[in-house]
Amino acid sequence: MELPVIILNFKTYPCVDGEGALELARACEEVARETGKSIVVCPPMVELSRVAAGVSIPVFAQNVDVWDGSVTTGSTTLSAVKAAGASGILINHSESRRKLSDIEALIRKAREMGLTTIVCSNNVETSRAAAVMGPDLVAMEPPELIGGDISVTTADPGIVKDTVEALSRIAPDVKVLTGAGVKTREDVSMALKLGTCGVLLASGVVKARDPKGVLLSLAQGL
Ligand code: G3P
Repeated sequence: MELPVIILNFKTYPCVDGEGALELARACEEVARETGKSIVVCPPMVELSRVAAGVSIPVFAQNVDVWDGSVTTGSTTLSAVKAAGASGILINHSESRRKLSDIEALIRKAREMGLTTIVCSNNVETSRAAAVMGPDLVAMEPPELIGGDISVTTADPGIVKDTVEALSRIAPDVKVLTGAGVKTREDVSMALKLGTCGVLLASGVVKARDPKGVLLSLAQGL
């Protein structure tokens, strides 16, 4: 994955059920090709394999379960997402929080398997805690702004700047992303001005009438 980057979390919006996931991923791939910008997609888990086989941009898993090697039913394991074609994972998203010990185990095992790790956090303090566990990136997203129309970069630029500064002191190798309410190219360029390496977003593109058009515009802010 190249930085700076736009990471699009498809979440589980009904419009990306089934074929919709691949269609959106192909639109993202076209934008990446036409603009030369780095775009990563996180399709619904059940579509991971099909999307990874259908596009050439990086595909990340939205979520992974901690697995101790015993037989389980219905779990999504690191080795399964890797085999499905994912090159990275989101961990501890606001809508799928994990225990501290599980976050650490997932980061360590994913690293051993060559998967890129992005740990989501909700403020400066949890970003610090996440960063000392050594993920590749921390994505700071205030939960109250997720899915809304006001970008974190407008609502609270200080929390983004403070996160970047804190991590540059304690874990300079860990890059910072931000997200929540990101909708415009100005939001993206402000995220970079505040010192991040890009954005993690969802509704602004996934729910748009013209996802490709919106993404083309967002990519201009990168
Ligand atoms: O994973 C990204 C997400 O939590 C932000 O969502 O809809 O505010 O862009 P959204």
